[in-house]
Amino acid sequence: MPELESAPDGDFSVNGNPVDATGHDGRPLVEFLRDVLNLTGTKIGCGNGECGACTVLVDGAAMCSCIVTAGSMRGSDVMTVEGLASDGRLTALQESFMRNGALQCGFCTPGMLMSATELLLRNPNPTRQEIVHFMNGNVCRCTGYAQIVEAIEEAARHG
Ligand code: FES
Ligand code: FES
Repeated sequence: MPELESAPDGDFSVNGNPVDATGHDGRPLVEFLRDVLNLTGTKIGCGNGECGACTVLVDGAAMCSCIVTAGSMRGSDVMTVEGLASDGRLTALQESFMRNGALQCGFCTPGMLMSATELLLRNPNPTRQEIVHFMNGNVCRCTGYAQIVEAIEEAARHG
């Protein structure tokens, strides 16, 4: 993981690391993540809250990082796709995406993974319908969604 800009007390945390957002209060969070912290896993699609490519977890809840400012994150714990794997090991969900071919260009994948991570935290055994409903805000231009839903189902089965 890239080294993060850090402050002794930090304005908020990103993937467990304190960050200083001084001077960036009004910037969209996704720009702060990508341009200041160099965490480029989070993508910018529409920039408008409509595609989910920029999804991160804020205190465990999936959120579009293009429509919130860095300054509004004070006191929060932000997790990006870079924060999922630990000690070089992918999560079961990430492994399942790979096994099921749940990506083509991969542009939507970080956002998909973050939304699905929240879903499985809240509901470890979602039905297919619950998965489709929960993932409704994440758009994929490539896969047709079937493999994405299957990957999430399989990750839930093998938890
Ligand atoms: S880039 Fe944020 S929702 Fe599309
Ligand atoms: S894999 Fe290309 S947009 Fe989803």
